[in-house]
Amino acid sequence: MEHTEVMKPQTLDELIQILNKIFESDCVNIEEVQNIMESYESNPQEWMKYAKFDQYRYTRNLVEEGNGKFNLMILCWGEGHGSSIHDHTDSHCFMKMLQGQLKETLFEWPDGKSQGDMVQKSQRILQENEVAYINDTIGLHRVENGSHTECAASLHLYSPPFKTCQTFDQRTGHRNTVKMTFWSKYGERTPFETTVSQENN
Ligand code: SIN
Repeated sequence: MEHTEVMKPQTLDELIQILNKIFESDCVNIEEVQNIMESYESNPQEWMKYAKFDQYRYTRNLVEEGNGKFNLMILCWGEGHGSSIHDHTDSHCFMKMLQGQLKETLFEWPDGKSQGDMVQKSQRILQENEVAYINDTIGLHRVENGSHTECAASLHLYSPPFKTCQTFDQRTGHRNTVKMTFWSKYGERTPFETTVSQENN
């Protein structure tokens, strides 16, 4: 295994530099990425400029494109905001809590035969600085800010980057392919025409 030594990034910029270095290689060591992201101690002063909240839905804010190898983004979750149940288009998904708490619910892929509710595998609350990992082999998930008083922010790394994913209806397992869009890129609001997202239910 390569890169076993854990480098502790002191700032978000340093974390980005290390991630760029790691993803030069085509082989991803999941544990290494998870450890490095976890060892960065969230400092709101460093990421505030990317964190744009919307009153109605969670926002996706691009921070870094990682030379085409990954997308790093900050997701901002207002009180009660949540995602649909979705897959990750055969990519790795690392998700680090920067602020607040989020509930992650894991589901099994619908088998296409059974009727009724999708099967829930597990549920957990992610705390500040924790890093969760998922890919399509593990299953599907929904992420929610269950708090009615606190907002939340999370740092997501997707590799390889993807522009569409599948969302699932919890009651029937029926799926839709949806486009994923950014509310902002590098701290600047994305022009309105390109921000309409069907991702949130
Ligand atoms: C999530 O993991 O729930 C966020 C999905 C997204 O990237 O929009």
